[in-house]
Amino acid sequence: MAVGRRSFLRGVLFSFLYISLAASSLPAHSQSQCSSAHPPVIFNFGDSNSDTGALVAGLGFPIDLPNGRSFFHASAGRLSDGRLVLDFLCQSINTSFLTPYLDSLSGSTFTNGANFAVVGSSTLPKFVPFSLHIQVMQFLHFRARSLQLGKPITQQGFHDALYMIDIGQNDIADSFAKNMSFTQVAERIPTVLAQIEDGVKSLYDGGGRKFWIHNTGPVGCLPQKLSMVKDKDLDPIGCISSYNRAALLFNEGLRRSCEKMRSQLRDSTIVYVDIYSIKYDLIANATKYGKFLERHELRFASPLMACCGFGGPPYNYDIRVPCGQPASEVCGVGSRSVSWDGIHYTEAANEFVASKVLSTAYSVPRLRFNFFCRS
Ligand SMILES: *[C@@H]1O[C@H](CO)[C@@H](O)[C@H](O)[C@H]1NC(C)=O
Ligand SMILES: *[C@@H]1O[C@H](CO)[C@@H](O)[C@H](O)[C@H]1NC(C)=O
Ligand SMILES: *[C@@H]1O[C@H](CO)[C@@H](O)[C@H](O)[C@H]1NC(C)=O
Repeated sequence: MAVGRRSFLRGVLFSFLYISLAASSLPAHSQSQCSSAHPPVIFNFGDSNSDTGALVAGLGFPIDLPNGRSFFHASAGRLSDGRLVLDFLCQSINTSFLTPYLDSLSGSTFTNGANFAVVGSSTLPKFVPFSLHIQVMQFLHFRARSLQLGKPITQQGFHDALYMIDIGQNDIADSFAKNMSFTQVAERIPTVLAQIEDGVKSLYDGGGRKFWIHNTGPVGCLPQKLSMVKDKDLDPIGCISSYNRAALLFNEGLRRSCEKMRSQLRDSTIVYVDIYSIKYDLIANATKYGKFLERHELRFASPLMACCGFGGPPYNYDIRVPCGQPASEVCGVGSRSVSWDGIHYTEAANEFVASKVLSTAYSVPRLRFNFFCRS
């Protein structure tokens, strides 16, 4: 590795602070199960929005309670109180949660796929762990070894597998954190998109044909950004306009990249999912959404305030006292919060996002998630 360990760790810590949120979830008994009970093999690439334990397993970076408190009742290597959007998507087709590729003691044999996503990842710089490029390289190694060994995945398996990507949030957030102007951030977006196209093409060349790509969420609505950015230009719902405009610009580019790749990559299926609209709607209309728990309807409240953090209203975020630090405070009922730790979403919010993802209303083309089940 050409990169010094110190700068690598600094990068990891930096990204840890500026991580992202993405992912998805869904009601356990949705209509999209695999009727034949043959869920697809899934390979996932991305950042903290879909990291199911790589930061902990691969870097020994602890993610302690109260993370994981609401579903796993223990830390589960996820930056949330419970399941991520990816977990809910897996549950929707009755496949087990994806194991991090870097987790050597999970007991998983990776027959259902592997998760290459790591907290803090971005597309650039390209050769720094665990950029999208490095994650794809890890996958290509996994693939080569599998074919050599004849297991756990065969050539046909790689061809039939579903390849999921959720990345970009940290590229945008890191650019702003480096004091770039909106124009500078915007100018960098095509380079970021080129990395994603590059990743998809490498996976395609490795035999992959089915892709499921999430766009990025409204980064300007994160309590972390809201509490740290000075001279904010707030939109009508209280989010930072310039950050969200950059996310929208990235998303429009990603949508067009997907369109282009569909025509370039023969026999490919590429689903683009508009996570941004789902999350922005959730934040704008939080008090209209919620769920029934033990016959009580729990609605979301204060969508711009972290459940777990420090400092109280309006954002309950303090970079010096992140969620999990002894002095941090955590709200009683996570299902009423949208934001878990100021950067990542609560399980309840992830479940909401996943249910919308599974509705197909935010997808182009509008394919059901169980379209990718094996016959
Ligand atoms: C889900 O998977 C379990 C265990 O593999 C199986 O017993 C069950 O029948 C599956 N359910 C559906 C609806 O496919
Ligand atoms: C960004 O600018 C602010 C004030 O203009 C300065 O205090 C801060 O150190 C700068 N940060 C970086 C990473 O350059
Ligand atoms: C909020 O809900 C209203 C009414 O359903 C809808 O028209 C509007 O588009 C929603 N806002 C966002 C940002 O999605």
